[in-house]
Amino acid sequence: MADVINTNNHHKHHLHALLIPYPFQGHVNPFVHLAIKLASQGITVTFVNTHYNHHQINSGDIFAGVRSESGLDIRYATVSDGLPLGFDRSLNHDQYQSSLLHVFSAHVEELVESLVGEGVNVIIADTFFVWPSVVARKFGLVCVSFWTEAALVFSLYYHMDLLRIHGHFGAQAETRRDLIDYIPGVEAINPKDTASYLQETDISSVVHQIIFKAFEDVKKVDFVLCNTIHQFESKTIQALNSKIPFYAIGPIIPFNLKTGSSITTSLWSESDCTQWLNAKPAGSVLYISFGSYAHVTKKDLVEIAHGISLSKVNFVWVVRPDIVSSDESNPLPEGFESEVGDRGIVIPWCCQMTVLSHPSIGGFLTHCGWNSILESIWCEVPLLCFPLLTDQVTNRKLVVDDWKIGMNLCGDRSFVGRDEVRMSIDRLMCGESREGVKGAIGRVKMSLESALKCSGSSEKNLSLFIDGLAAKVGLSNGKA
Ligand code: UDX
Repeated sequence: MADVINTNNHHKHHLHALLIPYPFQGHVNPFVHLAIKLASQGITVTFVNTHYNHHQINSGDIFAGVRSESGLDIRYATVSDGLPLGFDRSLNHDQYQSSLLHVFSAHVEELVESLVGEGVNVIIADTFFVWPSVVARKFGLVCVSFWTEAALVFSLYYHMDLLRIHGHFGAQAETRRDLIDYIPGVEAINPKDTASYLQETDISSVVHQIIFKAFEDVKKVDFVLCNTIHQFESKTIQALNSKIPFYAIGPIIPFNLKTGSSITTSLWSESDCTQWLNAKPAGSVLYISFGSYAHVTKKDLVEIAHGISLSKVNFVWVVRPDIVSSDESNPLPEGFESEVGDRGIVIPWCCQMTVLSHPSIGGFLTHCGWNSILESIWCEVPLLCFPLLTDQVTNRKLVVDDWKIGMNLCGDRSFVGRDEVRMSIDRLMCGESREGVKGAIGRVKMSLESALKCSGSSEKNLSLFIDGLAAKVGLSNGKA
């Protein structure tokens, strides 16, 4: 069942985009800020959340504040992901993904059908969906795919056929250690730095099925938007552009905390640690979070906890309720919190941008989610990298090897030891190499800022995209 919660007047000859994020936190966030960006350009936006995420966020129409403050025409709708609200999606990951693979599109179709009369003429859907071009074609909509991760990761998935032909993907991949040097626009890359799903030899999982179908579908869309900047990945983007209209329009993050503050997207309720942070010296606190999706083994979590404890650093640690598993309620070692005393706090979730932008934060121990990286660069906070799965593995390479804005938590990802954790934390927070990393992140932040200036690459790309969109929709003056 699809419910449209808010509908304003619509203009017939006008761009009206339906935005549908993959229903995970790290996808909903950039989609929300893309919605604001597009609406600020005069495009009407209808943002679609799943019933489940709507219920988790628990704040009604999430755009109500933005709409009343800024008058932007952002409407809000919800749709079923195919599962009942009470279903534990974290514990039953594969069933959840299966529902998104097989069932979700039918619910989306119902919603689209109910909205075409509202003047919707564009669909902007997450690249991980397997159906956007099919649904768009059925309803005569222009189809845009939004890739919320790095262009490098997109390119590796996009060229899976080449990886297969060369034996770097699939059953025989385990034996290949040589560099991948044949992907257009991608510098030679070590197979161990590709997305985790590309390194697995059993490629029959539900996530693999999704990736295969999604990257078939994306070849049929009209435009691809990517949450990166041209300066970061120019060769990769250029090469992709020769195959598909690909626009780098990032960073799409809540960098404007003022606008952001009236909008809550968190799927868990946020703890406010501002007062605690206010009492700590500048640059002294390590922020620790492993994002919204991946799980950490209890063994690794315990080693990390001991490493933090040994390091004597101040810290804020986001331990998501399901970080090990939603049926493991207390994964930290016994006595951890009393052992660290006032040096650290453990919280279930927070507003990450608010924490990262606090002057007391001096480092970020991260799983290398793409949003976390962009947010950390924006706040000029050096990174300590502990990638867990999916694109995080490739993002680590960008952060540590290419941009030199972070360090590795462990030399060998398959072994996490408390002494190495302690040493890495100390190196990041007060070691000799810290200054070099700080300098590098300052320079990378400047690239992000310049991409967003009026004449910057991302702003220019956004405007080119909107002109292209208007032309495709058939609006004569090329304006939204
Ligand atoms: C996964 C992928 O690894 C990532 O690269 C992809 O872009 C999205 O899905 P995820 O675990 O969601 O990652 O991490 P990340 O991309 O960093 O996104 C997490 C989001 O949640 C960020 O926007 C972050 O600000 C927010 N967050 C996280 C909070 O608001 N509070 C927290 O306590 C932790």
